[in-house]
Amino acid sequence: MNRAMLIKAPAKINLGLTVLRRRPDGYHDLLSVMQQLSLADTILLEPQEEPGWRFFCSEPSLSGEDNLVCRAAALLAEKAGLGSALPGVKMSLFKNIPVAAGLGGGSSDAAAALKGLNSYWGLGLSFSELLEAGAQLGSDVPFCLLGGTALAQGRGEKVAAMPGLPFHWVILAMPPEMHLSTAQVYGALEPAHLLRPRLEPLIEAIRERSKRLLHLWFAGESTNTLEAVVMPQHLPLQALKREFLNLGLHPAMSGSGPSMFALCDSLVSARVAARALEDAGNRVFLCWTKSNP
Ligand code: C5P
Repeated sequence: MNRAMLIKAPAKINLGLTVLRRRPDGYHDLLSVMQQLSLADTILLEPQEEPGWRFFCSEPSLSGEDNLVCRAAALLAEKAGLGSALPGVKMSLFKNIPVAAGLGGGSSDAAAALKGLNSYWGLGLSFSELLEAGAQLGSDVPFCLLGGTALAQGRGEKVAAMPGLPFHWVILAMPPEMHLSTAQVYGALEPAHLLRPRLEPLIEAIRERSKRLLHLWFAGESTNTLEAVVMPQHLPLQALKREFLNLGLHPAMSGSGPSMFALCDSLVSARVAARALEDAGNRVFLCWTKSNP
């Protein structure tokens, strides 16, 4: 009988995101510098007598067979071609990452399931085979497999490791009860939004490992094309941005929002800011950047 396995599924933020163009397949080509965080969901794989899988999720609304964890299992089972010969597994997903918040929670769960089941079922798929399977499940899944700090291209599925971001505390905040559909945010993009901001200064800051250049990047006009779509439509998000600025922090939006984050060098200052944002009624997480694996 197989042993139980516990796998972490870390959240991501986009340190910078530029949407380049709409593609004929409905997706968008983009350039993004992505960063993994300490905030994570957990997946528990446990043996079960009957073949196939059962799925449990701590968040009842996510517990259907359409969850990316089940879709990852189905994809691997299909690739393995072994069907009922695969050892039975009970998959439990414990959610910590806010849902539909631009933090890649579902994608990371899929990546963790792919890695975990590849090992649990002894399939021996290579990392590049897992990347290919991940890309079939979602644009951010390959990054979640790679981890650390990386540059994403194409629709996000082409990933290349970058020099690791220097350690930072990360204050993550979002207005309560606000969820955004990635498809709707991308769907609302106008041609005038595209091609901005240019990511070169961010890429240089990371290559140079320069906190000064990083600070300049976040103090600049924009870090994420999608912010121009989301921000004007959501007053609570504008208020959250002002609250960050009043605390002397430069926030950036992650993915298609509504999560906003700011990097911070000092734990004491990060704690003070996190408490102030919480007192203003926001949902707040204090976490940190994960180094390259
Ligand atoms: O790849 P994923 O399933 O996470 O994408 C969700 C939706 O976000 C897509 O159906 C598409 O509408 C939009 N999207 C996009 N361009 C990307 C990534 C996502 O238009 N590069």
